[in-house]
Amino acid sequence: MAPYLKLPYEITNVTPEEDKLIKKCLLGYTKPFVKCGPNGYVMPGAFRKHAEDIYNMQVRPDDVWVITFPRSGTTWIQEMVWLVENNLNFEAAKKSPLYKRFPMLETTSQIPEVAFELIKINFMNLASFQGLSEAAREPSWKAIERAPSPRYIKTHLPLSMLPPSLLSTAKVVYVARDPRDVAVSYYYLHKMIGKSLIRATMTHFWEAFRRDLLPYTPIVAHTNEAYLKRHHPNLHFVYYEDMLKDLPKQIGLIGDFLNRPLNDVQIKKLADHLSFDSLKKNKNVNNTTGKDDSIQFVRKGEAGGWRSHFDEKMQLQAEEYLILRLSGLDLSYPSFPIHEITRL
Ligand code: A3P
Repeated sequence: MAPYLKLPYEITNVTPEEDKLIKKCLLGYTKPFVKCGPNGYVMPGAFRKHAEDIYNMQVRPDDVWVITFPRSGTTWIQEMVWLVENNLNFEAAKKSPLYKRFPMLETTSQIPEVAFELIKINFMNLASFQGLSEAAREPSWKAIERAPSPRYIKTHLPLSMLPPSLLSTAKVVYVARDPRDVAVSYYYLHKMIGKSLIRATMTHFWEAFRRDLLPYTPIVAHTNEAYLKRHHPNLHFVYYEDMLKDLPKQIGLIGDFLNRPLNDVQIKKLADHLSFDSLKKNKNVNNTTGKDDSIQFVRKGEAGGWRSHFDEKMQLQAEEYLILRLSGLDLSYPSFPIHEITRL
C-alpha cells in the first residue's frame, strides 16, 4: 500500500463577492466555493473534504484517463477511447450508458448541497443525469476504486490535483478547446440542468468565466498543465478543433497512442459512429436531463459559435483575456494562434 499523501496545495474560500457572482450562475450550492492551489482552481466547497482522497487514489497501469476542462469534447473522446479499447464493440457500447462505462471521478464533489435531496426525488429528471443518483449515494471515486480493470476514468480536474503517479502509471488523453466556445457551451449546460430556474444570462456567465470563477477555471492554466506534458509518452494532447477538422486522422492517432492501431475500414466505421449527428441521436451518449429538452448535452458541435453569443464588448474582453492568460506560455489554440496575433 502506498503511503497516504498530504495534499501539496492549499484550499481557501473565494471572497464573499466572488461567491455571490458564482452563485448567481450556479444553482443549489450553499457552502462557499473554494480555490485550490497556486493556480486557484475553483471548486464547490464540498471538494475540501474530497480533495485528499482523490489525490491518493491508486492508479492502475491498465487505466485510461480522459482529462478535460468541461465542455471541451469530453464525451466525444470518451466514446472514441472506449471503443478503441474495446475492439470497436459497438454492441456492448449500445448496451450501457457512457457514464457507466467511463465514470467521472469527482461527480460527488459537483453535486450542489440542495440537489442531494432533489436527486432522491428525481426532481426535474436530475437522477437520470450522468450518474448523479449513484454519486449522491456513494462518493464517485470510491465506486471507481472498487471497479474491475481495465478502468476508463473521466475527470475535469487538472493534472496537479490528480494522483501524482498518474502519468508514470496510466495512459491519459487531454482534450483542449477554444475557451470562448467552452464558455458558451458551459452556459448552455447549466441552462439544460437548471432549466427555467437559471436566471443568469450569458453575460453573467461570461463575467464569471473571464474572472476565472466557474468550477475548474482558470481554463488556460488547466490546459497548460497538460500542454507542458504533451511529449510525455503516456499523454496524448488533442484540440477539439482538430477533431472537427479531421476526425479520422485523430482516431488513427488515438489508436496508435493506445497501442491499438486501426485500419482504414475501422477508422471509417468509428468516425461514422462518432459523427455529430450520430452521437446526438445516441441516447447512451447524449445524456440530457429530459426527453423533450430544447437544449441537448450534445448541442451544436461547432467551432466559433461563440461569435453569435458575444457582443462587441465581450469579444474585446475575450481577446484581452486570452492574450493576458497566454502571455509567456508556449500554449496556443488553433482558433487563437497567440504567437501570430501578438507578432502583428
Ligand atoms: P457545444 O455545446 O458547443 O455544442 P463535453 O462532452 O466536454 O461536455 O463537451 C460537450 C461539447 O462537445 C458540446 O459542444 C457538444 O455538442 C460537443 N460534441 C459532442 N459530440 C460531438 C461531435 N460528435 N462532434 C462535434 N462536437 C461534439
